[in-house]
Amino acid sequence: MDNLGSLARSHYSTDLSASDLNTTVTVMGWVHRRRDLGGLIFIDLRDVKGIIQIVIHPEEKGVFAIAEQVRNEYVIAVTGILSERTEGNVNKTMPTGKWEIIARNFYLLNDTQPLPIQIDGTAMADEDLRLRYRYLDLRRPRLQNIIITRAKVNSLMRRFLDAEGFYEIETPILMKSTPEGARDYLVPSRVHPGKFYALPQSPQIFKQLLMISGFDRYYQIARCFRDEDLRADRQPEFTQLDIELSFATQEQIFDLLERLMKTIFAEIKGIELSVPFPRLSYNEAMNRFGCDKPDLRFSLELIDLSQILKESEFQVFKGCLAGGGVIKALCVPQAASLSRKQQDALVEFAKHLGGKGVAFAKVGDSGLEAGISKFLTKTEATAIITASNAVPGDLLAIVADDYETASKVLAGLRNHLAAELKLYDPGELAFCWIVDFPLFKKSEDGNGWEPAHHMFSLPKEEHIPWLDNSEKIGEIKGQLYDLVVNGMELSSGSIRCHRYDIQKKIFDVLGFSEDELEKRFGFFLEALKYGTPPHGGIAPGLDRLIMILCEADSIRDVIAFPKTLKATDLMNQAPSEIDEEQWKELHLKRSE
Ligand code: AMO
Repeated sequence: MDNLGSLARSHYSTDLSASDLNTTVTVMGWVHRRRDLGGLIFIDLRDVKGIIQIVIHPEEKGVFAIAEQVRNEYVIAVTGILSERTEGNVNKTMPTGKWEIIARNFYLLNDTQPLPIQIDGTAMADEDLRLRYRYLDLRRPRLQNIIITRAKVNSLMRRFLDAEGFYEIETPILMKSTPEGARDYLVPSRVHPGKFYALPQSPQIFKQLLMISGFDRYYQIARCFRDEDLRADRQPEFTQLDIELSFATQEQIFDLLERLMKTIFAEIKGIELSVPFPRLSYNEAMNRFGCDKPDLRFSLELIDLSQILKESEFQVFKGCLAGGGVIKALCVPQAASLSRKQQDALVEFAKHLGGKGVAFAKVGDSGLEAGISKFLTKTEATAIITASNAVPGDLLAIVADDYETASKVLAGLRNHLAAELKLYDPGELAFCWIVDFPLFKKSEDGNGWEPAHHMFSLPKEEHIPWLDNSEKIGEIKGQLYDLVVNGMELSSGSIRCHRYDIQKKIFDVLGFSEDELEKRFGFFLEALKYGTPPHGGIAPGLDRLIMILCEADSIRDVIAFPKTLKATDLMNQAPSEIDEEQWKELHLKRSE
């Protein structure tokens, strides 16, 4: 059959209901599985909504002859009578498991070559092969489910924000570079030799300009492009729910996001999130968890032993404290039984994170044992046990290093050990706000300052005068916030500088020359002078939100056509060569 003619689908598989029993229905889709049993043919027909079983009896000779030819992934249409399965044949794991369609007509709409990857079953081909045939991999019910959930979340976010008085406004993709900390993707201009557009790292400046234009509440499901090192939760092009509001306080933005998250998790997962989400200052998060995106599904907090060990004669500790470092530890519950080999693996793990290593001590019935315990006095050992609330069977993992490195190593160990030792329920959700971030961080060469988030955030009111005090720059806290869930940064945002003078001072701290400033941000600084309202916003990463909602470990699973860790598309081979004509037209020359 070459086309459908007058044949029309009456139902999707899972739309069939008890009221359709014993009526004639027409379904269309793919052969998910075919089984020949005792002279009957059973076909699981898969469509976008699910699977329904088709039964073909040998008495229906014409139908049977066609059904015998079909293989997995052939495209078919079936007209038949919806019937109840016999008692023993009910499949409780399928939404349509009580029913089957007794085929009366069977149409073969298309066949298929043997598939390079398997759709049915759990055996999974290598990821590269699946990415090469992404359009086939997307037929797998799990991936279909994720992509459809994503569509539902998009629609839900739009409905929610529309009802809150937001306007959806598009901003340019071909634009002037708005640095957000990553490298830009650039597009050469044919019309302007030697000039380039940048793809947006985010619509940050445009959304602020829309506030200056008076739109008051803006959102956009915005594509962002960043040429940076990729990871399990990072893609070179990704999507943000970009939000900006005028005349709004941080509290109002938190409330909006909390209600949005509550609505999404209730509608998509049937989960009642408890709001308001807990808040931690950046300093508190760093001190207690060693990072600014703590996973709060488990406690396992860092314990500062610097004070207890300040008189220590143990060279490693003594040297570290004398050099201005810290000694911090994790008290890992019931991990004293970790073998030497497992401890060595943790030391390697710590080195991989840039640390020098980890020292261990076991908590026994009569105090600290083994590992470095021999270098501790009785008083120190007792004080450590008290400070860490340790009980026999626990393991202390101790790191002595500068504050940043010790935090980084222990934060890494904390997540690693919690996962290994199953200290939390992976299905649990732990949201938190991190607030009061520093506005600036030292630049990599140590000579200047970089924005800790981006350069358009307002310092806390009481810290604004410190912009003029070079001694205080590192202490300035911004009106910056992140929404974190299960140890993942889901959203970032801030209250922005709406005053020209403050924004100008921030650019000065960042070391922009007048010339550079004019060239890169002149238009924006000028705009700030024309009656800019106070405003602020936030941008949840949509891909990461879907990862959490769908319990996906890889960001590639939540994007229809993702890129590899090397930023390539294995299906269409992007990036690819361009032809000589295009090189010329774009005024490009190959470097020698
Ligand atoms: P930021 O750069 O923190 O803020 O990004 C906001 C959120 O976007 C997501 N995200 C990513 N997701 C996947 N792959 C990436 N490479 C990637 N980079 C970021 C994260 C992150 O929390 N303009 C500001 C927002 C604002 O201040 O309103 C911005 O872009 O979930």
